[in-house]
Amino acid sequence: MFEEFSILKNTILNYTPPLPDIFSNLHNLSFKVESSSVKFSSKDSDLRILKELFPLTSQLPYVQLITSSNNPSPKLKIGVFFSGGPSPGGHNVISGILNAIKRLSKENKLFGFLNGAEGLIQNDYIEITENLMSHYKNLGGFNVIGSGRKKININVHGDIIVQNIKQLNLNALVIIGGDGSNTNTVILAEYFLQRKIDISVIGVPKTIDGDLSHKFLNISFGFDTATKFYSSLIGNISRDVLSSKTSYHFIKLMGRSASHIALECALQTHPNIALIGEEIAYKQIPLDVIIKKIVKIIKQRASLGKFYGIVLIPEGIIEFIPEIIDLVEEIEKKSPLSNENLSEKLSPKSWQLLSQLPKKIINQLLFDRDVYGNVWLAKISVEEFFINLVKQELEKDNLHIPFNAISHSLGYEGRSSLPTKFDNTYCYALGFSVVGLIKNKLTGYLATIDNLHKPIEQWKSYGIPIAAMLELVKDKKNNHTFPLIKKHLVEMSCPSFLTFANYRKLWQIEDAYRFIGPMQWDVSQTHSTQNLPFCLTLKESSEYKINQLYFK
Ligand code: FBP
Repeated sequence: MFEEFSILKNTILNYTPPLPDIFSNLHNLSFKVESSSVKFSSKDSDLRILKELFPLTSQLPYVQLITSSNNPSPKLKIGVFFSGGPSPGGHNVISGILNAIKRLSKENKLFGFLNGAEGLIQNDYIEITENLMSHYKNLGGFNVIGSGRKKININVHGDIIVQNIKQLNLNALVIIGGDGSNTNTVILAEYFLQRKIDISVIGVPKTIDGDLSHKFLNISFGFDTATKFYSSLIGNISRDVLSSKTSYHFIKLMGRSASHIALECALQTHPNIALIGEEIAYKQIPLDVIIKKIVKIIKQRASLGKFYGIVLIPEGIIEFIPEIIDLVEEIEKKSPLSNENLSEKLSPKSWQLLSQLPKKIINQLLFDRDVYGNVWLAKISVEEFFINLVKQELEKDNLHIPFNAISHSLGYEGRSSLPTKFDNTYCYALGFSVVGLIKNKLTGYLATIDNLHKPIEQWKSYGIPIAAMLELVKDKKNNHTFPLIKKHLVEMSCPSFLTFANYRKLWQIEDAYRFIGPMQWDVSQTHSTQNLPFCLTLKESSEYKINQLYFK
């Protein structure tokens, strides 16, 4: 059960992150309504439907945790589960919840449902103790209780969940998850409120993808670690490139749809090319223009004697390319297709595009389906997709530019990595924030920590009503809409993108690679405000600190 011993690991396990001042006296932790004018993420036209679906939780205001005079806490019995892909820091959220409830009373208890929502439905749980967490705190992964992608269907699972929480006598349920998982948080909160079941349901913003954002929520936990980890590897590849000078490395970066990870890694590592899906969609850049642009850079570099380079590609890029959107729509409409009847069944434009692709990608497009029956875009090897098209384009003229391409896919190796000091501290504080909201009997909220660019003592803690983060999404297969937390995509006006856009030309030709090196873990120091993700610091800086960043 317990992982092997190492000196570093022992040091890490004995480390306790510092806490923001607000949590210095938990007994006195109360809350105030920060603002009742809540900013809803959905379109106005969908808001009426969402308010009908969530009549109670859509009325909630933003709240801030504050210190007041003694505010006694009820006896706490909390259930928690992880949901979705692992994200570094999750163990510290649990550690934070556990330590916070034990500070309030040694009799308080925390139970962990095993393997995600499945554990809640099957009543499969363990008690989480200080002894158990002493083997996991500050470490990556979700392996203390596991995670899962089970979707809660409240009409099917509602009764059994009520039965299970009553049997354990829980007064709170905590879901540590991303957009889908925290949509479950508010669905459950609404369900319990309507049935007058006295239980708080609180969500925690988890995902390496960085696509959860709202007022008082700057960043989901795990994003910092994943991007630092990937950037460290990209730096290693860049050093190899500079040493051997023989190859182009096409590096796919995880992140499902949004390109936040690719953008942050680009700012950290200064690649020659980084594609940003949202920019392609915003400018409606056709695929052949993207390919020609990449080829132009390769030719420019070749004219300087450089036959190598680094290209970053976000995992979700395909979802943003206009022709691919059309192709996928056609494939979905005309499925089932076979390899034999493609030229007759598809439009000439789609057939021409498809026939240029390697067999592996054609098969992925035609046959791999996600849980909704849609083409499984996330499974497509976009790095090979681009290598192939670039190669074909280069071969069109007779310049014979040497093009040796190597593909990489960075994903799973980063999302359970040892958390950075920032994620460890942030997650531990998130655990305390959860308990602050529960102690005050709040429900339907996402626990957040704000002011993250400031020294830890000054961090603040808020509750965001999750209903405000919802939008209505189309389920193409079943032809209906359903509520889902709105995905936060890269905005063209955000400081990170503007900074990237300002420097990319320079990075295309110069070898301005930036090497961040491996993660440092000095227990004698707290995390440094100097080393935060650029997407956090740039947002807070009026001039975006562009020069400081680049010439460092
Ligand atoms: P969530 O945080 O939304 O669960 O997704 C994280 C993620 O790592 C994505 O970046 C990636 O596209 C996906 O999970 C991979 O899913 P799976 O673990 O099912 O292969």
